[in-house]
Amino acid sequence: MRVLVTGGAGFIGANFVLRTLDQRPDVEVTVLDKLTYAANPVTLAPVAERIDLVKGDIADTDLVDELVAATDLVVHFAAESHNDNSLADPSSFVQTNLVGTFALLEAVRRHGVRYHHISTDEVYGDLDLDDPARFTEASAYNPSSPYSSTKAGSDLLVRAWVRSFGVAATISNCSNNYGPYQHIEKFIPRQITNVLSGVRPKLYGDGLNVRDWIHVDDHNDAVWTIIDKGRIGETYLIGADGEETNRSVVETILEVLGQPADAFDFVTDRPGHDRRYAIDSTRLRSELGWRPQYVDFRSGLSATIDWYRDNTDWWQPHKQAVEQGYATTEKVIG
Ligand code: NAD
Ligand code: TYD
Repeated sequence: MRVLVTGGAGFIGANFVLRTLDQRPDVEVTVLDKLTYAANPVTLAPVAERIDLVKGDIADTDLVDELVAATDLVVHFAAESHNDNSLADPSSFVQTNLVGTFALLEAVRRHGVRYHHISTDEVYGDLDLDDPARFTEASAYNPSSPYSSTKAGSDLLVRAWVRSFGVAATISNCSNNYGPYQHIEKFIPRQITNVLSGVRPKLYGDGLNVRDWIHVDDHNDAVWTIIDKGRIGETYLIGADGEETNRSVVETILEVLGQPADAFDFVTDRPGHDRRYAIDSTRLRSELGWRPQYVDFRSGLSATIDWYRDNTDWWQPHKQAVEQGYATTEKVIG
C-alpha cells in the first residue's frame, strides 16, 4: 500500500510516519511537506532511506496531481496549526488550510484515491468550565479563531466532496496532542523547554482554560483504525479523557523537573481564547474498538519531559527565536 502523508515533517505527521514504518512493513510512505518553520527535517533523518520526502506545497496543483495519481491513500496532516500565529497573520492559514485542502480534494476526486482528513476539536468552539457537556460528532460548528475557522472550512469542503462527488473520505477531529517532536511554540513543549532553560513557564490569562490532552501515538493509532475500519463519509472524534487546566499541566511539569509549584508567570491572555475543549469519543470506541494506551496523563507527560531533556539538540537551536517572538506581545501580569 502506498500512502501520501502531507505535513509528514511536522509534529503529528512525523510521529505518524515513524510509527507506520515501525508497525506496517507493507506500507510505502511518501511525505509531501513545504518544510515551513514548523517542520523539523531532523525528525525524519533516521528514516530518510525508507521514505520519499518531497518538498512542496499542497496548494501546488500539478505537484499534488502527480503525487496523488501514484498513491493508494492520502492522509492529510499539513496545515498552519498555531492559534497565536493565526491571530498575528491569518493569510497563510487561509491559503494552506483551505486552498491547500481544496487542491488535494480535487486530486483525489480525479484519481479515485482514498482520503483521510486530519482535523481538530477546535472547529466546535469552546465549552464553559462548569458545562457537563463534551463535543460529539453532532456538535455544531462554531470556530473562534482564524486557525479553527480555516480547519472548519476544510472539514466542510471534505463533506461536500463526499456528498457531491462521491470522494471516499473520512474525517477525524482530535483534541490537543502532546508527545515527542512537538514544536516548542506549543504550550506543553514551550513550558518544558522554558524550565529546562531556566525560564519561568508562561500561563495565559488566569491559567484555568482546559484542554483535553491525548498522546500523539494514541491519536495516530486512532487514525489507522479509522482508515482500516471507518465508514466512508463519516466523522470520528478522537479523545482520551485527558481534561486538565493549563495551570495543573504547568504545576506537573514544575514538579517533575524539581521546581517549586508556583515558579511560573501569568501573562496577557490570548484574544478570543477558547475556555474549554472536551471530547466524547464514544463513536470511535464503540463502533471501531479503539482505546487509548496512554490513560495516565501524568506518566505520558513525564515521558515527554524526559524526551525533551534527552533531545536538546532537536529544540535548543530554535528556542531563542521562539521566545523572542512571544516577547513582542506577551506581558507578565502576575
Ligand atoms: P505542525 O505545525 O507541527 O506541522 C504541520 C506540517 O505541515 C509542517 O511540517 C509544515 O511544514 C507542513 N505544512 C504547512 N503548510 C504546508 C503546505 N502549504 N504544504 C505542505 N506542507 C505544509 O502541526 P501538527 O501539530 O503536527 O498538526 C498536524 C495536523 O493535525 C493539522 O492538520 C492540525 O490541524 C491537526 N491537529 C493538531 C492537533 C495538535 O494538538 N497539534 C490537534 C488536533 C488536530
Ligand atoms: P496551544 O498549545 O497553543 O494549543 P491550542 O491553542 O490549540 O489549544 O495552547 C494550549 C493552551 O495553553 C491554550 O489554552 C493556550 C495556553 N497557552 C498558555 O497558557 N501559555 C503558552 O505559552 C501557550 C503557547 C499556550
